[in-house]
Amino acid sequence: MTTPILRRLDDLRALRRDWTRKGETLGLVPTMGALHAGHLSLVEAAKAACDHVVVTIFVNPRQFNSPEDLANYPRTEHADAEKLAPFGVDAIYVPDPDQIYPEGYATTVSLSGVTEVMEGPNRPGHFEGVATVVAKLFLQSGADQAFFGEKDYQQLMVVKRMARDLDIPIEVIGCPTVREVSGLAMSSRNMRLSPQAVEIAGQVNPMMEAAAARLRAGEDYAPIEAEMRASLADLGFSDVEYIDLRSTEDLSAMTRLDTPARLFIAAWLDGVRLIDNIAV
Ligand code: PAF
Repeated sequence: MTTPILRRLDDLRALRRDWTRKGETLGLVPTMGALHAGHLSLVEAAKAACDHVVVTIFVNPRQFNSPEDLANYPRTEHADAEKLAPFGVDAIYVPDPDQIYPEGYATTVSLSGVTEVMEGPNRPGHFEGVATVVAKLFLQSGADQAFFGEKDYQQLMVVKRMARDLDIPIEVIGCPTVREVSGLAMSSRNMRLSPQAVEIAGQVNPMMEAAAARLRAGEDYAPIEAEMRASLADLGFSDVEYIDLRSTEDLSAMTRLDTPARLFIAAWLDGVRLIDNIAV
C-alpha cells in the first residue's frame, strides 16, 4: 500500500485531530530524507510505541551552514517513500517550504549551554536551525513521542532541552546508532563517499572502541586523543574538527573516565564531514 504524502499543515492537523478524538497516540520521526536503515530503525521504534506514526521529510535550509552542503544534500523522495512502504506508517509529511517558513517568518529558537561545544562552534547557526524546525514539527504535529538517532547525540540533547524549556508536551526518545558491518555509522552523507573512502571511514568506529576500552582501563584521555588524531591523519582525513570525551549528562569536557561519558568525533574525509559518537 502506498503511504499518503501530506504537503500542507492543514492535512496533517486534520489527521491528528481525528486520532486525538479517538484517544490514539502519534509518534513522529523527523528526517531530512535520504532514508537509510538508521531512519528505518526509528520508524520501527515509533511503530512499536505509538498507535500512529508520521515520518517527516524536510531538507531544512536553516540548519545548513554551507550553501554547498545544502545544494549537495541528497533529495530522494520517491525512493524514501518506497523504503517506508513496508512499514505501514500513516503518512509522510513533506511540507512545502511555506508551510514551515511562510512569507515574513521571523522566529528562531536558540539554546545556550548544550549548543556551545562541538557542532555548535563548528557549524554556526546549525542548532538554531535544528531547534527552530523541530519545535515547529512538534507543534504542527502535536505528536506524543518523537524518535531521534543517537548518532547525532548532541542534537538529541538539544531537542530534549528545547522541548522541556518550551513546555512542548512530547517525549523525545533516543535510539541506538545503526552501523554498517565495519562499524561505520549510517548517515545520508555516506552516499557521497567513494568506495575507497567508505572503507577508510569504516576504520573509525573500531578505533573509537579501542580508545574507549583504554579509557575504561583507567588511561588518561589526552595521549589517547593525540594517537587518534595521528591515526586519522594517516588514514587520509583532511581535517579533524574535534575528538572529545564528554559527560553524557551535560556534555562537559572530561580528562579521564570518572562519570558516564561519550567519545565524539567530527572529521572530514573525501570532502564529506563525518561524525560519530559512542558510549564509553
Ligand atoms: O537529524 C536530522 O535529520 C535533522 O537535523 C532533523 C532532526 C530532521 C531536523 O531537520
